[in-house]
Amino acid sequence: MPEPRLERTLAIIKPDAMSRGLAGDILSRIHRAGFSIVAIKSLRLTPFQAEGFYAVHRGKGFFGELTSFMSSGKIIVMVLEAEGAIARWRDTMGVTDPAKASPGSIRRDLGTSIQNNCTHGSDAADTAAFEISYFFASHELL
Ligand code: CMP
Repeated sequence: MPEPRLERTLAIIKPDAMSRGLAGDILSRIHRAGFSIVAIKSLRLTPFQAEGFYAVHRGKGFFGELTSFMSSGKIIVMVLEAEGAIARWRDTMGVTDPAKASPGSIRRDLGTSIQNNCTHGSDAADTAAFEISYFFASHELL
């Protein structure tokens, strides 16, 4: 049998969750789901930085609202590590729209709208590599 592969993904606790005091609850769920937190920091994005992070969504109708929301307050960015971390974190969060997310997921339990959905996660290995490098230098990831 092949060795199970440790994988890394980028997670964000968004401004809606931060302002509602939900960071502790979300961090507990991250621990319970079996992730190691490889790196973590709190920061506030400028609108320009939010546009760069979400560049794949440029041109979509929600891009302006998304980037102003993501730069509206402090966020926590983290690199999570686990076997199958990308899919596992997406399962832990639930799908983008809280109304459609599975019971017990972060977005279903805590999210209030498709925009104010509390957390972000990378959707594939290449986006994880881009998103991790957007926030963390290699010496922060040892
Ligand atoms: P996230 O996983 O961070 O990726 C892009 C974000 O855009 C998404 O979560 C939502 O918060 C936000 N968003 C706002 N409107 C929409 C929409 N109609 N469809 C998808 N994402 C949306």
